[in-house]
Amino acid sequence: MCSVVFLLALSGVMLHGAAALDNGLALTPTMGWLHWERFMCNVDCAGDPDNCISERLYMQMADVMVKEGWKDAGYQYVCIDDCWPAPQRDAQGRLQADPKRFPGGMKKLSDYVHSKGLKFGIYADVGKSTCAGYPGSLGFYETDAQTFADWGVDLLKFDGCFMDWTLLGEGYMNMSKALNKTGRSIVYSCEWPLYEWPFHQPNYTAIRETCNHWRNYADVYDSWSSVKSIVDWTASHQNIIIPAAGPGGWNDPDMLVIGNFGLSHDQQESQMALWAIMAAPLFMSNDLRDICPRSKELLQNRHIIEINQDPLGKQGSCTAKGNSFHIWERPLSNNRQAVAVLNLQEIGGPRQFAINTIPGWRICNPKCEVIQILPRYKDLSVQTLQSQLVLSVNPSGTTLLTITPISKDHTRFPRLQWNNTSFRHPQVTVL
Ligand code: GLA
Repeated sequence: MCSVVFLLALSGVMLHGAAALDNGLALTPTMGWLHWERFMCNVDCAGDPDNCISERLYMQMADVMVKEGWKDAGYQYVCIDDCWPAPQRDAQGRLQADPKRFPGGMKKLSDYVHSKGLKFGIYADVGKSTCAGYPGSLGFYETDAQTFADWGVDLLKFDGCFMDWTLLGEGYMNMSKALNKTGRSIVYSCEWPLYEWPFHQPNYTAIRETCNHWRNYADVYDSWSSVKSIVDWTASHQNIIIPAAGPGGWNDPDMLVIGNFGLSHDQQESQMALWAIMAAPLFMSNDLRDICPRSKELLQNRHIIEINQDPLGKQGSCTAKGNSFHIWERPLSNNRQAVAVLNLQEIGGPRQFAINTIPGWRICNPKCEVIQILPRYKDLSVQTLQSQLVLSVNPSGTTLLTITPISKDHTRFPRLQWNNTSFRHPQVTVL
């Protein structure tokens, strides 16, 4: 057991030294809006003009992002996903936008987004065609990178469909170089590991050197089972993927589906809290023109965004499980800590959780300041190691806290023995 822990620690140390993609971008997780989960490949502009993939959709989203406080909250990138191109390249071999749905062309749309003080993202694919069957970039990396730069693109989501998996690495690295060669600052969002996992464990050192963020796992759907499966996958692969995350490069658990149809409010809070703990890029995929005030307030909650954007840039992990509670913790700057207590029991009412069973509670020796951020902001004031405070967590909901140690030299206190049977609340097993 000890040697396994040692090896994992060693691999973590080795990867921690790995360089991020050196483009000066994504020093904190990227924030914006991305069309896919909510609008998918709706190209029926005659029948459904308000929701089809057209320049109108992004212009309206950009307008709302400025007017409704999204930009001020930090959401900066307006991103197009699949289904934007015309079925054929132009005579010079360049990708072109579908002329019916994007009559003004991409440069004009990009200028519009920039005129609002926002940034513009686009989508392409490393292989022969995109996942929805539009032209892929294989054989055209330099041409496409230059086209995107000419259009004023600020972010490229590069999908991995229709590509021989043994060539994925080469393809993603070549596009990274092609983007760099344009001289334009373009955030590079990859799906390289997602497409490699079915065959072997991806090389996260190379991925971090190549991409600003990378999808590891399946597409998010508008359901609690989908969000849970992403969180579970992350927990079960955390020793492999967390060491790769840090300023300049992030694990991407996919879009926030908050404000749509499938999640209860407690589940929306859980997604927001866990995406903050996971240092995830925050790409909302919802209809910002029509979103309920509670979801809006949650997505714009500055305390949660502050955790997500913490400058230390360390991704949090699942640190304990027990009694259908999962504890996630993220180290923050200034020795602070964010903690999410997730209640996975989907029957019954709110359940109690003893705060001093959080593994990171050791930083409360001798004292700490505790702020509850979710489900509602509450100053839980100064607590001690022996605190008897009990949290009440709703089914499939999350209580999100920050803990600030008060002792100046709290690090001299050794890690507590949580498996000690004399311990008062053997509620969870430390991982
Ligand atoms: C893949 C990606 C999704 C989305 C679709 C578009 O499934 O993982 O995020 O981009 O393709 O076709």
